[in-house]
Amino acid sequence: MLKKARIAVFVSGGGTNLQALIDAQRAGTLHSGELALVLSSNPGAYALERAKAAGIPTAVCSRKELGTQEAFESAIHRALAAHAVHLIVLAGFMSILSADFVSWWPKRILNVHPSLIPSFCGKGYYGLKVHEAALARGVKVTGATVHFVNEIPDGGEILLQKAVDILPGDTPEALQKRVMEQAEWVLLPRAAELLSAQIIQEKEGV
Ligand code: GAR
Repeated sequence: MLKKARIAVFVSGGGTNLQALIDAQRAGTLHSGELALVLSSNPGAYALERAKAAGIPTAVCSRKELGTQEAFESAIHRALAAHAVHLIVLAGFMSILSADFVSWWPKRILNVHPSLIPSFCGKGYYGLKVHEAALARGVKVTGATVHFVNEIPDGGEILLQKAVDILPGDTPEALQKRVMEQAEWVLLPRAAELLSAQIIQEKEGV
């Protein structure tokens, strides 16, 4: 019987969303899943330090170093198999995954995006650029979305969303911080728990 779903977290940068998952695991709010692997597309990502400090195994798969998309994705597949992973959480993962890769993990990949999808999402909208675009458009409310990943960038089924106010004088950096604190770090651990619990239930039903 499967006690905990094994989660791989894919990162590329600072890893504050990874930290939120680590904290949730420690606090017991993430209890149906365990953080089994942190995979970074960037060998210098600070997220790798966070993983090591928490005792979570790490792997680095760099698209640039591996040369081709095929080599990159087969390295990822190997790492996932080696750690017997059940679900993947993209937490600031800035490399592209092909439709072929995604098709191997239907409803098993989650992504956190720093806007209320379908606003400010899709090709070219990532990280600070999302908040710059929201401020440039003059919207008064933004937020974050956790969605399943399919072959369409930011186009998979929405699982959770949370709105965040934009305040007068906001800079992209200030807005990014508020969206992370009020929405991303709350939603992502909750979504990881929901999907982990569902996976356990499905395995028990077999
Ligand atoms: C987060 O704001 C995440 O939502 C965003 O990158 C940041 C990563 O921060 N992801 C995207 O824009 C994906 N389209 P972190 O490394 O501190 O978690």
